[in-house]
Amino acid sequence: YPPERIRNFSIIAHIDHGKSTLADRLLELTGVISKTGKNKQVLDKLKVERERGITVKAQSASMFYEHGGHKYLLNLIDTPGHVDFSYEVSRSLAACQGTILLVDAAQGIQAQTVANFYLAFGEGLAVVPMLNKVDLPTAEPARAAEQIESAFEIDASGVLHMSAKTGLGVDRVLPAVIEKIPPPGGRIDRPLRALLFDTWYDKYVGVVCLVAVKDGAIRKGCRIVSSHSKTRYEVAEVGIMHPEPTPTTSLQVGQVGYITCNMKSISEAHVGDTFYRDKEPVEALPGFVPAKSMVFAGVFPVDADEFDRLDESVQKLTLNDSSVSVHKETSAALGQGWRLGFLGTLHMDVFRQRLEEEYDANVLVTAPTVPYQIKYRDGRTQFIRTPADFPSAAAMQDAVEATLEPFVSATMIFPEQYMGAMLELCTVHRGEIQGHTFIDESRVMLKCRLPTAEIVTDFFDRLKSKSQGFASFDYEEAGYDASDLVKMEVLLNGEPVDALAAVMHRRTVAAAGRDMAQRLKGVIRRQLFDIIIQTAANGKIVARETVKQLRKNVTAKCYGGDVSRKMKLLNKQKEGKKRMKKFGKVELPQEAFLDVMTTS
Ligand code: GTP
Repeated sequence: YPPERIRNFSIIAHIDHGKSTLADRLLELTGVISKTGKNKQVLDKLKVERERGITVKAQSASMFYEHGGHKYLLNLIDTPGHVDFSYEVSRSLAACQGTILLVDAAQGIQAQTVANFYLAFGEGLAVVPMLNKVDLPTAEPARAAEQIESAFEIDASGVLHMSAKTGLGVDRVLPAVIEKIPPPGGRIDRPLRALLFDTWYDKYVGVVCLVAVKDGAIRKGCRIVSSHSKTRYEVAEVGIMHPEPTPTTSLQVGQVGYITCNMKSISEAHVGDTFYRDKEPVEALPGFVPAKSMVFAGVFPVDADEFDRLDESVQKLTLNDSSVSVHKETSAALGQGWRLGFLGTLHMDVFRQRLEEEYDANVLVTAPTVPYQIKYRDGRTQFIRTPADFPSAAAMQDAVEATLEPFVSATMIFPEQYMGAMLELCTVHRGEIQGHTFIDESRVMLKCRLPTAEIVTDFFDRLKSKSQGFASFDYEEAGYDASDLVKMEVLLNGEPVDALAAVMHRRTVAAAGRDMAQRLKGVIRRQLFDIIIQTAANGKIVARETVKQLRKNVTAKCYGGDVSRKMKLLNKQKEGKKRMKKFGKVELPQEAFLDVMTTS
């Protein structure tokens, strides 16, 4: 297949607009998978993906298709739909020349449609809008087309209408791809230049690399070099995804496929790397900016004895997902564990679920925090990954020039009647409104700058409930700004409990302090003396609760008579003690920590 008979394309869409369903239909239509009706979302390989109905890791598939008397090779590169995985989206797009922008004709364009459109537009790809779900009685294709025109300034007059569910109009999708998306460039007579855009570990064959061949050809036995590490490899196998790996004799210019080359560890496969042939060096293709962690959370084994086994599982899982950052951490309350950085809270949930399902792990995950920054007068900058890193009150006075927090630039799309509620939501979450536009006569697109810390907790749930499910939301990182940060401390009878401290904006301390004190009161058992719970910031008490002392002795109800029962009770108490952590005179059971520190 010469490049002019190849098309490399992806489908981008807001979550649930039908991307996976359309991919399945196209694979059936071209005979890659059979029409048994059992092919639900073939590209969504991970169990988590199938369960949650979201695409996490990009996969791809090659199809053969005849059009206008010519045979074409069409490579569909899958992209994840959710905002947390926009990093995966941009690397999938680097392997394509164009993309189908799929819009649900009943819902119209949503926040992720906008975010994904700009990702593709920024990569210089041809964007072909198509309207899905026209079978729904609530579908309003004319209105959705109007939104596409006004939001993206692209002509939507001839936009394709289809139903990926019933199959209506699906036969016109691939002809449109061939006509509207340009073929890949590159030349067969130039030295090999291949972009590594995805990688995974296979139990049987080891590291598998997905590559887009930009120039030349690659075949079994070739000696190739990584531009990144200058390591040499011998290609053991090349092939296409059909949709399972299927060996071929070579991958030629314009093609997308997989190679295996005896890489020992997935850490050798740098996504964004360029491969060239040994002794024929070429200029490396522009790589990708590495993914940055947006949220951090502590992860601890429920059973401390499981640490070593879990450590291995965490290593394996992070090898397959290089966007997770890993640091070991020891907590006074929860023991040995890890501080992991994620792209967002959904990414965090998916990671936890994979750890539990694929590695049979039982873990505690602490509430998510964001990476704050401290700027010192001497020019140093420090990232605050845990509250223990936060400077002392004295250091804050003498050495710190500014405290900074990360921000996102958010896009929200909703019907006009929720304008008031959405503006209020942004303001409550310390957002700064940057403006709004109407994408049709009654739908608003609102732009707003928000502290990342405000969106990692319940922001999304509140957005949905305040808009009765009609608002959609997407965001991208937008750098750091100076912010009045403080460390909230928790004191039990005057003794600080470091494990419960948290860094936050001064404005949120009062509410968070009250909430923490009340939650602790609810889980601390009475002891033989009063326990004063206090939360404080900058030496000032924010909230105070008291757990009244226990009057009765545990053994009192035994009346001194039944010795064995008394022993049993005392032993039980001793066992309970093992799991107690002592703070000054106050003992806290492990469960109390879990209750207030972890997410459900
Ligand atoms: P992500 O992979 O999470 O981004 O979602 P997706 O965009 O792939 O959506 P998916 O294909 O999973 O479809 C979401 C839901 O919409 C499923 O319940 C589909 O059955 C349904 N659906 C997809 N296409 C159509 C359509 O043309 N008409 C109707 N009525 N329903 C559809």
